[in-house]
Amino acid sequence: MKTIEELLQEATQKIQDVKDSSSLNDLRILYLGKKGPVQELMKGMKDLSKEEKPIFGQKVNQLKQDLSKMIEEKKEQLAALEMQKKIESEKIDITLPGRKPELGNAHPLNLVRQELEDLFIGLGYQVIEGDDIVDDEYCFERANIPKDHPARDMQDSLYIDPNRLLRTHTTAIQMVVLEESAPNLPIKVVCPGKVYRRDDDDATHSHQFMQMEGLVIGEKVTLADLKGTLEFMAKKLFGQDRQIRFRPSYFPFTEPSVEVDVSCHICNGKGCPTCKGTGWIEILGAGEVHPNVLKMAGYDPEKCSGFAFGVGIERVAMLKYGIDDIRHFYTNDKRFNSTFKRYE
Ligand code: PHE
Repeated sequence: MKTIEELLQEATQKIQDVKDSSSLNDLRILYLGKKGPVQELMKGMKDLSKEEKPIFGQKVNQLKQDLSKMIEEKKEQLAALEMQKKIESEKIDITLPGRKPELGNAHPLNLVRQELEDLFIGLGYQVIEGDDIVDDEYCFERANIPKDHPARDMQDSLYIDPNRLLRTHTTAIQMVVLEESAPNLPIKVVCPGKVYRRDDDDATHSHQFMQMEGLVIGEKVTLADLKGTLEFMAKKLFGQDRQIRFRPSYFPFTEPSVEVDVSCHICNGKGCPTCKGTGWIEILGAGEVHPNVLKMAGYDPEKCSGFAFGVGIERVAMLKYGIDDIRHFYTNDKRFNSTFKRYE
């Protein structure tokens, strides 16, 4: 039979060398199990003398304790190691770049609309919207365009029924605002929105487009006020060096009526392809609100006056961003839209 020292030495070596917890468990059974050497030694005690028994018993017990302790320590070591391995084998590489969700951006027409709204809110205007489907009454009659007036030809429209149509201009909103405000003064509103005309689409025409109407009514509101307001707008939109000029024009709902040009922001007025060599770019129609319009809405044209203007949002966007075809706004090509991220 091996001596206790030999047994301890041998077991210590084996426990040290063991590589996994199941082999360690085998070792535990081998040494400390019922049929193991420790148990064997215990059994042998009965053949010893009275004096030898306690000394030997103590040694065997010590051996048992030492072995148990070593196995327990090794068990913990192995468990920690195995956990470490498991963690390493299950590692995922979180340094890989993720998939970024694509962020959209505002449509260029909304960018211009927003810019115009901000500008006029800053001047104390209110923003008022209206319905896309309007009564003939507000689109034409109240705008001083009776049924058989030739001016109706300028705005051929899309009718829902004989009395209702898709509005052809934001002037239709202006007429509702006038009626609802009468007889209170002053009125200071801008009315943005989509408008519709029975036009064939090409690079500069679209059967649907956007306008923004401006309307100011008060005591002695003159063409000079209109000019100052529009010059302020032109400078904000196209740069502080811009100038504007009025040319006589005709609209049934304004008198006098003007066509407004802005000095070209590309060539600074020298003449270039954008301004067709003239140095000026036409941007909107405007005028002093016609006395008939005021009367129909319930105002006394002797006691108040005002101006109105209608600016095309597409036209401003095309000039501002150098867009050559109005159809780009409506074909929803994401590449076109994403060009405008930098303007936000
Ligand atoms: N409603 C006109 C158009 O669509 C523009 C306009 C508005 C002109 C207000 C004068 C005053 O052409």
